[in-house]
Parts: sequence; C-alpha cells; structure tokens
Amino acid sequence: MPRISHGEAPSLERLAQAQLGTHQINRNLKFPFEFAVTQEPTPFGYLLPELQAPETLLPTSREIRDGLVNLGIAMVEPEDDSTPDSVTPSAYTYFGQFIDHDITFEAKSDSLASISDPDLEPLPLEAITTKLQNGRTPSLDLDNVYYKPAPRQGSRLRLGVVSPQGNRPPNKDIANDLPRQPPRRDPETDRAAIIGDFRNDENLIIAQLHVAFLRAHNAIAIAGRSFDEARKSLRQHYQWIVIKDFLNRIADPEIVQDVLNQGNRFFRPALDQLFMPLEFSAAAYRYGHSMIRSSYNYNLNFRGPKAATLRDLFSLTAVSGQLGGFDTLPEQWIIEWQNFLDEGTNHARPIDTRLTNELFALPAFGKPMPNEARLPVRNLLRGYLLRLPTGQAVARAMGLPVMTPREIEAVAASVSDEQLAAVRACRFSERTPLWYYILAEAAHRMSSVLGPVGSTIVSEVLIGLVRNSKDSILREDNWTPTLGTSGRFTLRDLLRLGGVI
Ligand code: HEM
Repeated sequence: MPRISHGEAPSLERLAQAQLGTHQINRNLKFPFEFAVTQEPTPFGYLLPELQAPETLLPTSREIRDGLVNLGIAMVEPEDDSTPDSVTPSAYTYFGQFIDHDITFEAKSDSLASISDPDLEPLPLEAITTKLQNGRTPSLDLDNVYYKPAPRQGSRLRLGVVSPQGNRPPNKDIANDLPRQPPRRDPETDRAAIIGDFRNDENLIIAQLHVAFLRAHNAIAIAGRSFDEARKSLRQHYQWIVIKDFLNRIADPEIVQDVLNQGNRFFRPALDQLFMPLEFSAAAYRYGHSMIRSSYNYNLNFRGPKAATLRDLFSLTAVSGQLGGFDTLPEQWIIEWQNFLDEGTNHARPIDTRLTNELFALPAFGKPMPNEARLPVRNLLRGYLLRLPTGQAVARAMGLPVMTPREIEAVAASVSDEQLAAVRACRFSERTPLWYYILAEAAHRMSSVLGPVGSTIVSEVLIGLVRNSKDSILREDNWTPTLGTSGRFTLRDLLRLGGVI
C-alpha cells in the first residue's frame, strides 16, 4: 500500500506498491483533472551479456558479500577531508537524479532476495532477465512528470501551493510546491506528492527541480500550445539539455562526441526491444551519489552558518520526512537556483570513492540504522545481486584502458586506511565491483568528469535512449531549440522558462 510509515525500513518493492496504492486512492476521488497516460513495464538486461561468466563476475561467497559490506562502510568521506569541490554546479547533481527517475526504477529484486541476508547470493541470470521489470520507460520522455497520477488542468499541469511560513525569497510566487494529497492520518498517503514518480519527493532539491519542470510545461502551454504540443516541446528541449549541456559536464566530452558522431557501439537495442542495461542503472549511473554535498547554500534564509544540511533537505519532503510539520512546503524553503548554477557557491563533490556521511544513514530506511541504510553498501550489494561484471572485465570488453591494482589501491589509500584495507581484503583491486571501479576511474584522473568506462557507459546509454525516445530530437533532421536564445538551451534556460530564476 501507499506511503511507508515514517521510521520503518521499507523495501523498494513496497515503495513501488506505495505508488500504485496512491493511484488507486486517486482513482476513487473526484479530482477536477484528468490523469495522464500509464505505461507498460520493460525489462532489464546487460550491455555486455558475454561477461556473465565466472571469470568476469565477482566470486560467489559469504566472504565476498561481507567484503562488499565492509567496502561500502569504508567509503565514508573522512571528517577532516579537504578534497576541493568539483567544477560542476550542484544543479547538475540533481538534474542527474531527475534523469535517473525518468528512465529506471528497479524494485523487483528486493522481492526475490533480501539485501540484508548475510548469505546473499547473485540471482540466477534467468530470474534477472525474466522477472525484473523497469517501473519507468527507458526513454527520455519525462514519464516522471507526465505519467499517472500527475494531475492536469486543461493544457497545464497542476502545481502545489507553499505554506505561509518565514521569509519567502524575493520574486517567488506561491505556486512553488509539488501538488500534494491533503494531510491524512494514514502515514502512507499523508501529504504525498501527486507526481509521476514519488522518488522526486525524496529530497527537496529534486522536488524543486520537478516543480521547475511543471512550471516550464505550463509556460509553454500558456503561450498557446495544447497539452500534447507543450509536452513534446518540453521533452525535446530536455533531451537537448541532456546531450548538449549535462553529458559534457559529467562525461568526457570527446567520448560524448564520438558516440554522437560514430553511433553506439555497445548499446544498440532494437526499437521494439528497448531495455535498461544493469551496468548503467546499478553501477555507472550511480556515480551521482558521490557528487552529493552534506550541506548547501540554499537560499537567503539557509546559507553560510545556517546552510541547509542534507538532513534538512530530506525532512522537507513527504517521502523522507514530514515537510517540516506543514501541510505543504513552507515558503521560506523555496529554492534559489542561482546558488546551484555556475555562478553559485554550491559545487558538486568530485566523482570519487568517498561519499558524504549523511548517505550512511538514509532516513527512509529506519532507525536504528542497519548496514543497508548506507547507500554505498546498498549499491555494492545490489551490483552483486544483479550479477554485474567487474570493472576490469568491462574495460577489457570495451577495449578501454584497464586500471591496475596499484592505481585502484592508490585511490582507496587517498581516502582512508580503512578503504585501502577493504579493497585489499577480497582482492577487490584486481576484480573490482563495477560501481567502485567507475568512481575510482574518475578519481584517478582527478578531473570533474567520469573516466573512460564510466563515460562510455553513460554516454552510450543516455544517447541511445534519446535516439529511441518518443519525439526524439536525434530522429529529426537538425533539430534545434526554439525556446532558448540563438539555438542554445541549457538547464539554466529551462529554469528561466519555468520562472524559477
Ligand atoms: C540525495 C540524493 C540521493 C539519494 C538519497 C539517493 C538514494 C538512492 C537509493 C536509496 C537508491 C536505491 C539503492 C538500492 O537499494 O539499490 C538509489 C538508486 C539509484 N540512484 Fe540514487 N540517490 C540520490 C541521488 C542520485 C543521483 C544524483 C544519481 C545520479 C546522477 C542517482 C542515481 C541512482 C540510480 C541510477 C539508481 C538506480 C535506480 C533504479 O534503477 O532503480 N541517485 N538512489
């Protein structure tokens, strides 16, 4: 059933059921709007299915499972860490998460095995390819914005109104929250956001980005377009941002250009057999977890010594918190996006093997915090469960430089003795879990972007999905943006279109 009681440890499958339950409740209510269309589940698969062999996977043993838990725990950023921020503005961290929530949602493996099981073993290949279902269309089509239960009003999408409290940042109107259910005694539906993917109410920055998308759609509709026209236009401009702005900020621009010019080499699904590659969703695209900061200069109310902590940003949502005790977002928490763009002070943490402490006690996973409430532990165990090949095997299969054990150990040693010990304990420097390898590769190069394997997987999959998307700009001759200035359209332009900067 819908939302999970606060403080309880939910499985992802339960969270997915929660969303379905919300739909059912909505269906029984007489809302003054129509529902957007629903979607059919699609499968998961592998970019490199030939690597499903013992020599290219991690061995199956209790020792490996425990080793992954220890490695995840050792990925915490040391308290006295002095590594400088990356050059990537933090808006792109959450734009990355927003894309994730548009294209992939794997909730089924939690019902096939418990990630907390000390004897966890990889699922049989057949179960992975036949039983897992993607809860999102693997397509850059904004289903997280447009699909059920997103409420429509004519050609527009409905927004929520903020609650009066504190100092509303200048030039902000009240339509700056997600549309929400009213307060209810039932913790599962209480103030739940009525949006295409409930995960966009998991932290306040992604929730505010979702608001920007709703507002951008409305701006196009208000200019005289029908709902379908506005949706197509927003989708296409979003695809443009992904390819022209976002990808070049997080992946090696040469690799991005190569995939655009030469076409995909590894991700080439037939149009009617689209799938989500697990090397991407369970490893490479989780690179973003390392970009998350522990605090943000959020707006004029919450900056400097009063900067918003990640904990604040969780607590001001309905999935991870209680909206600060208000019916809707308190207006003093409306975001000021200029702080999150190039000129702002919030720059992402570098892509590397250290994650901010807050991600080691995710509020959605209950108290006292089990090991599985630590995000890196979840990522590593998920990769093991889903039979991800090692980083070295993927690099070799793609014909890319393979990191040496020495290089991997040097990355681990630069974080902490504990991380180095955890990497050595199970010979993870020779056969490295793919997610850790992707992060190590980026850290080794000490630039703000992913390394060769990470850049290749992320560019191939995102560009491949755009090619196969509804209203794809890569299937139209020379599509160029109509909403920006002189053929340019970036994330900043989208925020401007939505009237949030
Ligand atoms: C505060 C921010 C974030 C939090 C709290 C968060 C939390 C989580 C959690 C709990 C999971 C499920 C882990 C599991 O059980 O396997 C997950 C999955 C995932 N995350 Fe994040 N995440 C955040 C930001 C990001 C960012 C910035 C990115 C990428 C740019 C990202 C990419 C992903 C991907 C690709 C998945 C797998 C989705 C699927 O296929 O189901 N996340 N995240």
